[in-house]
Amino acid sequence: MRILFVASEAFPIVKVGGLADVTSSLARALMHLGHDPCLILPRYGSITAPVEDVPGSGFPVSFMGSREQVALQKTTLEGGIPVYLVQNENYLGACQIYDRDELKRFLLFSTSLPEAIARLGLRPDVIHCHDWHTALAPLYLRQAGAEAPCVFTIHNLAYQGPFDREFLLQSGLSTTWQEHTPSEAPEPGLNFMSQGILLADFITTVSPNYASEILTPHYGEGLERLLHYRRNELCGITNGIDYDEYNPATDPHLARNYDSDTIPGRVDNKIALQKECGLPQEYGVPLFGMVSRLEEQKGIDLLLQAIDRFITETGSQLVALGEGREHYQRLLGRLALQFPDRLSVFTGYDERLGRLIYGGADMLLMPSRFEPCGLGQLIAMRYGAVPVVRHTGGLVDTVHDVAQDDGNGYVFQGYTVPELLQAVKRAEAGFYDRDDWQSLMRRNMNLDFSWKASAGKYEEIYLLARDTFRARSG
Ligand code: ADP
Ligand code: GLC
Repeated sequence: MRILFVASEAFPIVKVGGLADVTSSLARALMHLGHDPCLILPRYGSITAPVEDVPGSGFPVSFMGSREQVALQKTTLEGGIPVYLVQNENYLGACQIYDRDELKRFLLFSTSLPEAIARLGLRPDVIHCHDWHTALAPLYLRQAGAEAPCVFTIHNLAYQGPFDREFLLQSGLSTTWQEHTPSEAPEPGLNFMSQGILLADFITTVSPNYASEILTPHYGEGLERLLHYRRNELCGITNGIDYDEYNPATDPHLARNYDSDTIPGRVDNKIALQKECGLPQEYGVPLFGMVSRLEEQKGIDLLLQAIDRFITETGSQLVALGEGREHYQRLLGRLALQFPDRLSVFTGYDERLGRLIYGGADMLLMPSRFEPCGLGQLIAMRYGAVPVVRHTGGLVDTVHDVAQDDGNGYVFQGYTVPELLQAVKRAEAGFYDRDDWQSLMRRNMNLDFSWKASAGKYEEIYLLARDTFRARSG
C-alpha cells in the first residue's frame, strides 16, 4: 500500500515529544512490511535537514479571506522514506512549531493538502493523519473528492486545537463543516480534533486502555459523546519503538554500550550521569531518572509535592530532564539548588542526555496524571531502567507491577503523594536486592516493544478504513 502520513512532527527532522518518534518509526516499520510510506509535514524554519525544492510545485491557496503562496520541498528519513514539506513564509516558517499562531499554521497546512498531494502525484491508498494538527485534513480531502480513505490517530486528546466563533467564520470552516457533518452526529466542538473524529474513515489511539478511557467523561476531555458515536470505528493500538534507533548496544550517546548479557558494564553510564549531574558518584545509591515534557499531564505537580518526603524518606538520587512550563522549570530548578546531593534538574530538550538517563538511571519515573501510551517506559525497559509508573492509559498496557508473575515495573494507582512514595520505596528496596534486580533488568531488556506486532495492526486498520471509504463513496 502507498501510505501517506500527515503530521506535525517526525524524528529526527522535528521533534517535541513521542509523536515524532511514532510517525517516523511506524513509517519505517510499514516499509519493512513491504509497504510504500511517505510523510508530509510543514516546512518549519527550524528544520536543518538538507532539503531540495520540488520544481514547479508552487500554488496559491485561498486562506482566511486572502491568498497564500505555498511551495513544496523534499527531504528523506533514514531508509530513504520521502518526507514532503509544505512551505509558506507567513505561517509555516516559524521555528517554534506550537505557539499562538498554531491554529492558522495547521489550518493552512491542511487546506493545502489536497493540491499538494495532486502536484506531487502521490496517489496514496490510505492517508493517515496524526493528532489535532492534521484533524481538518479529512474534511478538506473529502471536500476535494480525494480517492483514498483517511485514518486519524489520536495521540493526545488533551490537545484539541480549540478556536472561537470568530475563527470559525473567518476560516470558512462554518460552511464546509455544516456540509459534511452527518445530521445524526453529536454537535462537534469548536476545535480541530472533533473534525478528525467525525470524518475519518477509521480512528485509532495509541493504546487499548486509553481507547476505553477516552469514552468516559474523566478522560474524554469533552469529546466522549463524539467518540461514542464513532466507537465502532475506534480502536487502540499500542505504540512501539524503533529497536535499531533505541539500542543500548549501539547508541552513540552512551558512555558505554551494553546489552542484556553485559549489564554490569552499564554502571559506567550511571557514573557518567552522576558526574554530569553533579551528584555523588556512587553506584550503590539508587538513581531515579525522568525524561519528560514538563506539563500537567506528566505528574510534575505530584512530583513537586512529593520531593520533600523523597529527600527525607528515601536514600535515592533523582535526575530530571524536561522542557515545558516555566513555572515547573523554576520550581524544579530551585529544589535542585536546595538539595544538590540528591536532585539534579536540566531544563531544555537534550537528545544525548535523555539517552544517558535511560542508559544510566536505575529507574525511570512516570507519575503521569494521564498517558495515552508513553514511550519513556518502553525506552527505559529496552535500556534496563526499571519503570515506576502510575496506573493510567498506555502505562497500564505496558507496565505490570512486579507483584504479578509477568511484572516488569512498579505501579501505583492513585494520584497521591503517599502512593507515589510507596512505589518509589518499593523500587528502592528492589534495587538493593541485587540478584533479583539484575534478572528484572535482563528480562525487561529482552521484552519486545518494537513495532513488530503493532505495525501489522495498522495494516488491518488501513484495510478496514478502505471498506468504510468504499461504503460511503458508493
Ligand atoms: P509525550 O509524547 O507525551 O511527550 P512520550 O513518553 O510518548 O511522551 O514520548 C516522549 C519522547 O520525548 C521520548 O522519546 C522522550 O525520551 C523524549 N523527551 C521528552 N522530553 C525530552 C527532553 N527534555 N529531552 C530529550 N528528550 C525528551
Ligand atoms: C502523545 C502522548 C504519549 C504518546 C505519544 C506518541 O504525546 O502524550 O502518551 O506516547 O503521543 O503516541
